[in-house]
Amino acid sequence: MNEKDLLTPRSVRDSQSEMAEIVLPNDANPLGALLGGRLMHWIDLAGAMAAHRHSRQYVVTASIDHLDFLVPVRVGDLVILRSSVNRVFRSSMEVGVKVWVENYLVDSCQHVSSAHLTYVAVDRAGNKVPVPAIVPETEEERRRYDDAGRRRDLRRTERERRQKIMR
Ligand SMILES: CC(C)(COP(=O)(O)OP(=O)(O)OC[C@H]1O[C@@H](n2cnc3c(N)ncnc32)[C@H](O)[C@@H]1OP(=O)(O)O)[C@@H](O)C(=O)NCCC(=O)NCCS
Repeated sequence: MNEKDLLTPRSVRDSQSEMAEIVLPNDANPLGALLGGRLMHWIDLAGAMAAHRHSRQYVVTASIDHLDFLVPVRVGDLVILRSSVNRVFRSSMEVGVKVWVENYLVDSCQHVSSAHLTYVAVDRAGNKVPVPAIVPETEEERRRYDDAGRRRDLRRTERERRQKIMR
C-alpha cells in the first residue's frame, strides 16, 4: 500500500474488533476468580487489534487509563472484549475497550470493565509514524471522539505534573 492510501481517513466500524476468552484455571486466583492482571493483558490485546486495523502499522501501548473491575469473573465464564478507535491525533490514537462477562449456564451478561488506551504507531525501527484520521459517523462515535479530546488534555496535564514531581 502506498503512503497516500495508508493515510486515507477511515470509519470507526472499519477497525472495530471483538475478542473472546474462556476463563481457565490458569487465569484465576486460588478462589477461582479471574486475575486482574490477566484481564489487563486481554484489554491491551483487544485494544491493539483495533489500533493495528485502523493504522495498518505496528503499534506500542503508550498508556492505559484508570481501570475498575466492576464484577468478579469466574473460571468457566466467557469474557468478551470489544474495542474501537475513539480518536486519532498524529501518531497516537485513543482506543476504548469494553469488557463483558457471559455465563452460559445462567444466561447472564454483565459489564466488567471499560478502559481507554493510547497506542502510538511506529515503523519497524520504532520511529513514530502518522495515523490516518478517523471519521466518527454515529452520535455515539461523535460523543466518544469529543470525550477522547478532553481525556488527552487531562492525560497531558497529569503527565506534566508527574514529570515535575519526579525531577
Ligand atoms: C509511547 C512512546 C512511543 C512515545 O514516544 P515519545 O518520543 O515520548 O513521543 P512524543 O512525546 O513525541 O509523543 C508521541 C505521541 O505519543 C503520545 N504520547 C506520548 N506519551 C504518552 C502517554 N503517556 N499517554 C498518552 N499518549 C502519549 C503523544 O501525545 C504523541 O501523540 P501525537 O503524535 O498523536 O500527538 C515512547 O514513550 C515509548 O516507546 N514507550 C514505550 C512503549 C512500550 O514499550 N509499550 C509497551 C509496554 S512496556
